[in-house]
Amino acid sequence: MTRARAVAAILMIAATALAGCSLSPRSSTPGRPGSCASLTVPHPSQPPPVDTSRPVMGWNPYNTFGTSASQALVVAVVTAMAADGMRAAGYRYILLDDGWQGPRARSGQLTADPARFPCGIAKLAAFTHAEGFRLGIYTSAAAKACSGRAGSGGHIARDARTFAAWGVDYVKLDWCGADYSPPGATALARSWRAALNATRRTMILAINAGGSASVGSWASVIAGSWRVGGDICGSWYNQTRSPSATARACYSRQWDQGIYDYLTSTGLREQAPLAGPGHHLDPDMLEVGTFARASSGGDLPTSALSPAEQSTNFAMWAMWSAPLIAGNDPRALVPGSAAARILLNRRVIAIDQDRLGAPATLAWSGVAGHPATGASSSAPRGAGSWQAWRKPLAGGKTAIAIVNLSDAPAAAIFPWKDLGLTGPPAQSVNLWTGRLAPVSPSGLAITAAPHDTAIYELAAR
Ligand code: GLA
Repeated sequence: MTRARAVAAILMIAATALAGCSLSPRSSTPGRPGSCASLTVPHPSQPPPVDTSRPVMGWNPYNTFGTSASQALVVAVVTAMAADGMRAAGYRYILLDDGWQGPRARSGQLTADPARFPCGIAKLAAFTHAEGFRLGIYTSAAAKACSGRAGSGGHIARDARTFAAWGVDYVKLDWCGADYSPPGATALARSWRAALNATRRTMILAINAGGSASVGSWASVIAGSWRVGGDICGSWYNQTRSPSATARACYSRQWDQGIYDYLTSTGLREQAPLAGPGHHLDPDMLEVGTFARASSGGDLPTSALSPAEQSTNFAMWAMWSAPLIAGNDPRALVPGSAAARILLNRRVIAIDQDRLGAPATLAWSGVAGHPATGASSSAPRGAGSWQAWRKPLAGGKTAIAIVNLSDAPAAAIFPWKDLGLTGPPAQSVNLWTGRLAPVSPSGLAITAAPHDTAIYELAAR
């Protein structure tokens, strides 16, 4: 953990402790807020079914809270997500990240950190289920997790059984210190999948084996999702160019990726054909609504990404049929704010959840007025640097997302054939607004703020 992470973790522990005092879980559960009795569910229930062939939608504390999440925070977030529309919009998985683990007992049994999760994971799972969510957990393929806490190396079958007994529905398997070689990593992932299957509980396996371009070749047939890059950070650039001064969690230029870095990642594009229903690309979690960071390390009240960049983060993750895992603080989601409008946009969510699960391919990229290298097509007329992505949808429709990569507002008209269409569609719907867009024979006209994305659903003629 870097010094910045350690400072942030301490600040967040303090903030969480304070928040835990004022937040109470669901009113129908007895007991003092924060006590174990308050997590006791009178009639254990299962949450509504989810279709596990679709990308997971949920929330994970890591982008906002690092490895410092606690039971009090998770309970408060569950309560917030039930109230603020996130649950209703489909964010159904509450995913614990690194930091929940206590020591492994002499018997070999994995335990939860007693200070952070005083009531244990089984009670938290029952509470989460009763609130209509599913619970995910984090572990590592090595003996120690990335934080240095206990990992599952040498204990795969035992930990899979423990997770099942606790009522866990999803396992994020990290790789720090484990075998990254394709044969070694494949064997580890296979053992995990087999161990989870042996419990007979449905548990999604989400793999983070380093994000290099070769991972998909083996992970796509074993895992529900696999990471296709480093840790996301709250900045447009981090690898390609320097991050913004108030970037969130851009600790390393080598490992952490901004939104632009993911948009231009060749590894993601190479692995896209391997994805499909039940096996999704994972460009890491969303930075929609996360806070900017002061140089001192504390959170600022502004967002890390501009509203336009948050729109691109969300629209493109949906275009790739990636897991939509919110990384914000749902307790701070202001109704009607840019983050709320983006995260709760059901039309864009539907693109992500489309039954074909086919990631978008890059139809055109370059500078308007200049034909793309190697492309025989005409170029968009206008100005600006752009990417145009095309995603086939079930029922013969097509989603098109056009990203303004320029650091300035830009406008251009994209000929239909540059978008992979033979001619103008019968109908075009602007998915941000839900309004019908005029269909011009010459192409799709876009005006976009810097780093913004226009997203349309087209119906063929
Ligand atoms: C790695 C993962 C992150 C997060 C941290 C936790 O960096 O890539 O997603 O889980 O570990 O320590």
